[in-house]
Amino acid sequence: MKVVTNDIELKIALQDFNRGKRKLGFIPTMGALHEGHLHLVKQSHEENDITVVSIFINPKQFNNQDDFDKYPVTLESDKELLERGHCDILLLPSQEVIYPKGFKPVKVDIDTLNKVFEGPMRPGHFDGVIQVVNRLFEIVTPDVSYFGLKDFQQCLVIKALRNELFPKMELKFVPTIRKAEGLALSSRNARLSQLGQEKANIIFKTLAMIKELKKHIEPYDALKYGKHILTQNGFEVEYFALANADTLIESKKWLRNGKNIVLAAVWLEGVRLIDNYIF
Ligand code: PAF
Repeated sequence: MKVVTNDIELKIALQDFNRGKRKLGFIPTMGALHEGHLHLVKQSHEENDITVVSIFINPKQFNNQDDFDKYPVTLESDKELLERGHCDILLLPSQEVIYPKGFKPVKVDIDTLNKVFEGPMRPGHFDGVIQVVNRLFEIVTPDVSYFGLKDFQQCLVIKALRNELFPKMELKFVPTIRKAEGLALSSRNARLSQLGQEKANIIFKTLAMIKELKKHIEPYDALKYGKHILTQNGFEVEYFALANADTLIESKKWLRNGKNIVLAAVWLEGVRLIDNYIF
């Protein structure tokens, strides 16, 4: 695996690579890699001729300084995992590479996405994601980029960015990788105690329960019961809601199969966890 730090080094690393005929797959990350990331890398390796992974902890997308300060940094083990996981090139850009002097933020119309769920809860977050992913797409110019569906709303934001500024690039949204008991893999899980990690399985179980309740009761009662279970188990619930999976507009009615998404953001042991379930 080659390690590069900017667009020039990346160009040199790719000089023997015939961009016209061969496909480049890209996975942007903030490091603290886990099986979920490695799954994306594996998929890219299988579907493309070359796979580039970036690690950059983007300060612009943290609306909370404490969350930024506590974000796990595990560069050495990340490198080992990527080496074993068939990553060809690791891009490790500095702040100056991503946000050079005179940096002009791009504007992307993300419509209602900024007004629901993660939008109001994390002011400025999606704008930060747009800025960094836009810069990374400009530097890497991928044919295909991979993102995990755990961050469902982020996937829709990135789709808007792609549609507006990178229409030729293909996007692949990959199902969430979970522990056997259901917990969605996330870099933030590392901040939970062993007991907390076990308890956090309840999030997925509660989301999956809503699908079962659909057969019997209305969304309002199903969601109320789901929130009750989470609160009883010591979670602080920020949101636990049903929405249309295409638009993320909240819904008071069950939608037709495949359009229902239940989204959860909860706090446990001072860690904010999100997950979702589509049915
Ligand atoms: O999902 C993430 O890890 C980040 O939001 C991303 C897409 C790498 C941008 O910093």
